[in-house]
Amino acid sequence: MVTIRPRRARTTPAMRRLMREVHLHPARLILPAFVADGICEPTAIASMPGVLQHTLDSIRALASDCAATGLGGIMLFGVPRREEKDAQGSIGWDEQGILNRALAGVRSEVGDDLVVMADTCLDEFTDHGHCGVLDERGRIDNDRTVDCYVRLAQSQAAAGAHMVGPSGMMDGQVAAIRAGLDAQGDTDVSILAYSAKYASAFFGPFREAVASSLQGDRRTYQQDPANRREGVREALLDIDQGADAVMVKPAGYYLDVLADVAEISPVPVAAYQVSGEYAMVEAAAANGWIDREAVITESLTAIMRAGADMVLSYWALEAARQL
Ligand code: PBG
Repeated sequence: MVTIRPRRARTTPAMRRLMREVHLHPARLILPAFVADGICEPTAIASMPGVLQHTLDSIRALASDCAATGLGGIMLFGVPRREEKDAQGSIGWDEQGILNRALAGVRSEVGDDLVVMADTCLDEFTDHGHCGVLDERGRIDNDRTVDCYVRLAQSQAAAGAHMVGPSGMMDGQVAAIRAGLDAQGDTDVSILAYSAKYASAFFGPFREAVASSLQGDRRTYQQDPANRREGVREALLDIDQGADAVMVKPAGYYLDVLADVAEISPVPVAAYQVSGEYAMVEAAAANGWIDREAVITESLTAIMRAGADMVLSYWALEAARQL
């Protein structure tokens, strides 16, 4: 019998490039970025070396770089002043709140050259740090929270977001936001639904990045990391409710969920390579234990291979520049 030789596909760099199943491309990368109120210059985040809390000026410059590099989008997170936080997170939907001001600035900077996205969640804005509002017994009130998300999304659309990203894992949030956007005439603003979002310890560094006030955990709303089927269920619900794209988060440790969702989804699928995935690689690389650039490329490629159409990554701009 003749030997079957798959190695023929690996003989030269050109052959490998031709035979490659997935290619990273700047248009498929989205940069998550933080904008903080009350800082005079961009400020380092200790647990995410290389990532900054931006000022209103520096975020515009960053967005302009993203557009020039051909990135798919930029996803903005707001960090308000501590004294602005309240139980509802109302500074989130205030026109003068940091996130909405940043959205307006970025949108006027990049116009339609880059998809401008907003995190649509309360946790950065509440004094208790939860993604929702609490009832008198301290439990998350799902439906009152969804009402707040609608106001948030409406204010973000008004500020200039092309796409809102509800990330709070409340039931019914996508349908309510869709209706709220349509009601104010923002029928063209899309929804990137954080559909399968897990109660992950890999979000640790992000909590520093947004100066989170959270005590406790998010296990009554974010998914149990042990659950695979449930990821598909959550994605299907969001698709039914009108999500324009769905997301799996974290990415690298949830490739099974990502592959499942990619298999069934009629809309594009995003994956979010989160702060902990970033921090671990940066820390190992700083110690000289791994080849930083190679690991970044491999991690992004693995996420694409599992079925992502787009990847949110703190390395998005750097990776896109290398392509
Ligand atoms: C919630 C939100 C979180 C992240 C993105 N959106 C944090 C959380 O759920 O606690 C985490 C992102 C990351 O870790 O990089 N608004």
